[in-house]
Amino acid sequence: MEVIRTVKELKTRVAELKAQGQQVGLVPTMGALHSGHRSLIERSCRENGATVVSVFVNPTQFNNANDLATYPRTEEADCALLEDAGVTIAFIPSVEEIYPEPDTRQFDLGPVAEVMEGPMRPGHFNGVAQIVSKLFYIVEPNKAYFGEKDFQQIAVIRRMVDILGLDVEIVDCPIVREADGLALSSRNVRLTPEGRAIAPAIHRVLDESRGWKPGMSPAEVTDKVIALINSTPGLEVEYYQIVDSLTMQPVDRWPADGEPFAVGCVTVYCGDVRLIDNIKYC
Ligand code: PAF
Repeated sequence: MEVIRTVKELKTRVAELKAQGQQVGLVPTMGALHSGHRSLIERSCRENGATVVSVFVNPTQFNNANDLATYPRTEEADCALLEDAGVTIAFIPSVEEIYPEPDTRQFDLGPVAEVMEGPMRPGHFNGVAQIVSKLFYIVEPNKAYFGEKDFQQIAVIRRMVDILGLDVEIVDCPIVREADGLALSSRNVRLTPEGRAIAPAIHRVLDESRGWKPGMSPAEVTDKVIALINSTPGLEVEYYQIVDSLTMQPVDRWPADGEPFAVGCVTVYCGDVRLIDNIKYC
């Protein structure tokens, strides 16, 4: 595996790989890699001749300075995982390398970015669009891989690809969970032992709620999910919304056969750790 830190060198190497006829997969990450990332990376390695993984804690997508400062940074362990997974290139740039000058682009991300994480984290999705579009321009991958834990993020990235007219296939990959159901996340390392013990209740309730669908409306399921998660001392729901899986707009009835499925998206505070998860109602 090659570790590359500059845009110029990365472009040169990717051009060489493409000249050899390799299809290139890109897995953008912010490091602190775990088995969830690994599943994306392994899929890219299976589906492409060369896989580039970027490891970059992108400052423009953080709307909270403390969150940026405390975001885990584990470069040595990340490189070991990437090497073991068979990655071709680990791209680990500095902030100055990616943003030699401030990125002032404002993306018109539309309704997909105006709900849930949009109002909760002002500027977050614009920052995601900035970094992911930069990576797409640098690598020009055939395919790029994203985890469904950040379900809304995938819709936003698809929108960004549409408005920029980029030629890249977005591949969404299923959530990877601990044995007790907790969705893998780089933030899980910040959970206290007590927090770690109660956090699986989030997925337990979401999973159970799939069974309520025949007899209850989306609004009733929403209320019950929030009440049940909040009934676990130590967990506090920030939002739970059941939305159309393509438009991200809240649904007031369950979709008919042939319509896009509904997905329930939740964020929950477990102490000061903000956990995110979702469940498909299909
Ligand atoms: O999902 C993430 O880890 C980040 O938002 C991403 C896509 C790597 C952009 O920084």
